[in-house]
Amino acid sequence: MTNVRVGIVGPTGYAGMELVRLVAGHPRLSLSYLAGSGARTGPLDAHLPHLRPLADLLPPVEPLDVRKAAETCDLVFVALPSGESGRVAWDIAQSGKARGVKVIDLSGDLRLPKDVYETWYGRPALPEEALASARYGLPERDRASIRDAHVVANPGCYATACALAVLPLGEWLSDVTGPIIFDAKSGVTGAGRAPKPHLHLGELANDVYPYRVGLHQHTPEIERAIGERARVLLTTQLLPVPRGILVCAYVPLPPDRAPMVYDRYTSFCEREPFLRLLPEGEMPHIKAVNGTNECHIAVRWDERSRLLQVFSAIDNLGKGAAGQAVQNANLMFGWPETEGLELVPLWM
Ligand SMILES: NC(=O)c1ccc[n+]([C@@H]2O[C@H](COP(=O)([O-])OP(=O)(O)OC[C@H]3O[C@@H](n4cnc5c(N)ncnc54)[C@H](OP(=O)(O)O)[C@@H]3O)[C@@H](O)[C@H]2O)c1
Repeated sequence: MTNVRVGIVGPTGYAGMELVRLVAGHPRLSLSYLAGSGARTGPLDAHLPHLRPLADLLPPVEPLDVRKAAETCDLVFVALPSGESGRVAWDIAQSGKARGVKVIDLSGDLRLPKDVYETWYGRPALPEEALASARYGLPERDRASIRDAHVVANPGCYATACALAVLPLGEWLSDVTGPIIFDAKSGVTGAGRAPKPHLHLGELANDVYPYRVGLHQHTPEIERAIGERARVLLTTQLLPVPRGILVCAYVPLPPDRAPMVYDRYTSFCEREPFLRLLPEGEMPHIKAVNGTNECHIAVRWDERSRLLQVFSAIDNLGKGAAGQAVQNANLMFGWPETEGLELVPLWM
């Protein structure tokens, strides 16, 4: 199939508008359905002027009609707030089952088992049947199961940056001698586009501070993504920049592994199209991954503290959301994973 008809639910949001940009540039995907809450309808470029060059390719934004999505699209990305998104994704998947419609949900609603979701998200989970239908979509870990999935739960942005920092350790993750500490910082688009007082420029500028300490819902997702072999301590912090996530991970690895760490990361990252291990001594920058699906990684053994330091940088809207969703779509349709994703970073 070379011309797959794509629906995007939530194209006026941050993740959705990045999906529009990526899908419009993808050689095998065409935009056929855009839908939102009904608050913003009509030409998408009237709401988002940066998309004006794509005006001829954009269907008008309509109030969401699940049946229409299921009947007119081959692939639907759902990028609505958690609590709403998974339900819509599940409804479209059910409605389009006979046609084999594929669905990728960008929210946290389909990523966790019922009890874990309810504890960390503080709301009822979707029915077990819906949760069981979705495959977790971190390609570097789940490539084989994504290939034949019909519903994919796209990973969270922090969860992606943290998991990718330590996944190259593989079975060594079972040997850590204490919790893995993730010190993680994100740009403000991670919080979505709906206005909130703490996201106003006056509140945000010239400040950095931790939030949801001990409570962040990506904590159990990271533990599951790295195999639940290690306990995770996650500290999330808000950066006064629009996009980008930087993670500094501290891993209590047995010291006898230190001389082999860089080679281990090299052999893992060499096989991965979007993981870039930086030369020893070089550090990742969020600006160097902005607008891409890449994850830049640096590793350093600290002999004084006997901890492994791992640094990872992603674009929360790229590898943390829309880019990874397109990578998952490429896998689901059997195309090269890099299709439509060979993007040069923005830097400025
Ligand atoms: N932002 C990130 O960095 C990021 C990263 C990874 C995952 N995610 C996940 O992706 C999802 C979207 O995040 P976001 O940051 O893009 O959020 P956002 O900027 O707040 O956008 C939300 C979108 O949902 C639409 N919407 C809201 N309620 C709706 C409803 N009842 N029916 C139909 N459409 C509705 C809005 O459309 P209207 O304009 O019509 O109201 C808007 O297009 C979330 O689940 C989030 O957790 C986000």
